[in-house]
Amino acid sequence: MRAATSQERALQALADEARKDAYAPYSNFPVGAALLFDDGSTLTGVNVEDGTYPLGICAERAAVARARAEGKGRIVAVAVSGNAASCPPCGGCRQVLSEHADGTTPVTFPYRGEMVTLTVDELLPYRFHL
Ligand code: THU
Repeated sequence: MRAATSQERALQALADEARKDAYAPYSNFPVGAALLFDDGSTLTGVNVEDGTYPLGICAERAAVARARAEGKGRIVAVAVSGNAASCPPCGGCRQVLSEHADGTTPVTFPYRGEMVTLTVDELLPYRFHL
């Protein structure tokens, strides 16, 4: 675990901004995610809940789905923003992010009131892959 760089903080600002568009009326826990790609472009995602609770999707996975639909390349950095002192990506999102990013890709998120950055491998060692 290390402190976020200025570039990672800039990506975090995009995630913060995106979070305003989250649809989280059931949990009241809006989440925003921002992805940086190998061509320098960025893209965001938000959690989208549903009255049929299991159908809701996390911000990180929504961002990945959007990235694929828009023909984006590899993810080179990730930021996650939640309305709480801690908002690390959930286990399912770690798995999905690991499919589209390298093990060394940094993931920045608030944890116990501080911004921290861990690599995909650190977040999900021994991940499943085919
Ligand atoms: N959530 C995310 O969007 N990303 C995560 O990594 C963890 C949880 C969302 C799902 C749900 O809409 C809300 O946060 C509360 O669990």
